[in-house]
Amino acid sequence: MNRVSAPVVTIDGPVGSGKGTISTRLAARLGWRFLDSGALYRLVAIAALRQGLAGDDHDALAREARDLDCRFEFDGQETRVWLGEEEVTRELRSEPVSLMASRVAAVPAVRAALVQRQRDFRRPPGLVADGRDMGTVIFPDAEVKLFLTASTEARAERRYKQLKAKGERVKLSRLFRDLAARDERDSSREVAPLRPAEDAILIDSTELDIDEVVQKAYVVVHEKLSKD
Ligand code: DC
Repeated sequence: MNRVSAPVVTIDGPVGSGKGTISTRLAARLGWRFLDSGALYRLVAIAALRQGLAGDDHDALAREARDLDCRFEFDGQETRVWLGEEEVTRELRSEPVSLMASRVAAVPAVRAALVQRQRDFRRPPGLVADGRDMGTVIFPDAEVKLFLTASTEARAERRYKQLKAKGERVKLSRLFRDLAARDERDSSREVAPLRPAEDAILIDSTELDIDEVVQKAYVVVHEKLSKD
């Protein structure tokens, strides 16, 4: 364990793998802090869209990432997010922001600008970090690394239900296509591509419900920490 700071559990995986819900529940159950690293890329995306920046203006995007003025409040159930004075919790999950975030996340200078900000979340009693490169790049010394997967169909359906529940008008076929394109971009980019760390434990959630995955993750963490 990194005793200077605090233990970390990383949960990486593609969109719709259930990672967001699972990491939130695990953090609540452990009573630990929670980092939704995707929200940082989404915040940069919102800032960029507000400024009318192009997805290929790397310098300007990196500046937005460096100067990002944001705040998170995790109440054990939900993370509320502010950009400057404005609450953007809802906008953060919209499809235009998702698409821009995926472009922003492929810019090396943006990723570099967000590294330390993410590591600063590691404070006692511990951290559950949700993302794509938590176990490979941001917290390579994490005590426990999990990698969640699920079939593209299952993930598109989950996302469809989520967005519908929020009252967004979406088409399943379009979501499936966007998801496949985003996966492709996230896993083929040169910097911090989406892939499991060598020492990650893989969990396929296609046939599991959320409670089963949370329980599985909790047992792994508990065993690991009681050994150290
Ligand atoms: O997990 P999410 O859908 O909120 O992430 C938004 C985008 O940011 C998505 O395209 C993947 C990317 N991302 C990333 O590249 N690295 C992370 N650690 C987290 C998210």
